[in-house]
Amino acid sequence: MPTQSPSAHLPFGENKQADWYGKDIISVKQFSRDDLEYVFGVAHEMRGMVERVGTFDLLKGKILANLFYEPSTRTSSSFTAAMERLGGSVIPINEVKYSSVTKGETLIDTVRTLECYADVIVLRHPETGSAAIAAKAARKPVINAGDGIGEHPTQALLDTFTISEELGRLDDLNVTMLGDLKYGRTVHSLARLLSAFDGIKINYVSPEILRMQKEVMDEVAEKGVPQAEYSSLEKALPETDVLYVTRVQKERFEDPVEYEKVKGAYVIDPAVMKPAKKDMIVMHPLPRVTEISMDFDDDPRAAYFRQMEYGLYVRMALLAIVLGKA
Ligand code: NCD
Repeated sequence: MPTQSPSAHLPFGENKQADWYGKDIISVKQFSRDDLEYVFGVAHEMRGMVERVGTFDLLKGKILANLFYEPSTRTSSSFTAAMERLGGSVIPINEVKYSSVTKGETLIDTVRTLECYADVIVLRHPETGSAAIAAKAARKPVINAGDGIGEHPTQALLDTFTISEELGRLDDLNVTMLGDLKYGRTVHSLARLLSAFDGIKINYVSPEILRMQKEVMDEVAEKGVPQAEYSSLEKALPETDVLYVTRVQKERFEDPVEYEKVKGAYVIDPAVMKPAKKDMIVMHPLPRVTEISMDFDDDPRAAYFRQMEYGLYVRMALLAIVLGKA
């Protein structure tokens, strides 16, 4: 892919005054509606640039440390692609087993090490609150790429960007979240983020043991967003504008027997989707296991592959923003 130098006509440049320069991204609670519009505006420009020139030198000379203590395909590779499309480079630490973590090094020491070499750290870690701990220890920006069952803020930003690009709005939406709402960090962040918009209604559909966390529901209720809980999809589906499907998070279960009981609780397929609107979308953070049948993939409402691509633009935007170049 050809590399172009930044030039005067680029919609980007040095902007170290912007509020987000040098900041950590730990929780969606940090984002006001104005912030979201700013991020989406930059993501939209990134999309245009990738389509026009592919790769360009906005972050030339900058280094990202991609530190993953849990498995990842999309989040890890899209941050790598984002940094490289912006002309920067990446220290990948996907296999912590080959790093000093196996010698007993603490997260704090690992982060302090990486910030000697990198300008920004992306962290995925199995413990809730780990990203905040790392951010406190580090002088360089830390971006939370998933902290246990806590939050996944960059996923929620790309999810809302997807809704905005696909449906043309983020207000007046009936959103149904389906699956593992207890352990799924993506839905914890997404429900919180959606509550910044007007006319949102959120339906939660899950097995009894995987209901949405009370803490999240209380925060969303405080914003005046109506919420309803169901154990089956039937009632909520016909009114739904966005169906957000999630995987049952096998790795978070203490008792494998409990997982076996709920693993196949919901399957989205063409027959199930018959009563749904024609102009709605089906999203999934991926990976999927059995919760969306491959028979549904060719339906125009299946937005989950497009959603992955939007993730690249949002992560490019976030890197440019925290490094003061948006
Ligand atoms: C999600 C995650 O890691 O929380 N994946 C992702 O980042 N796209 C969802 C999941 O693992 O089920």
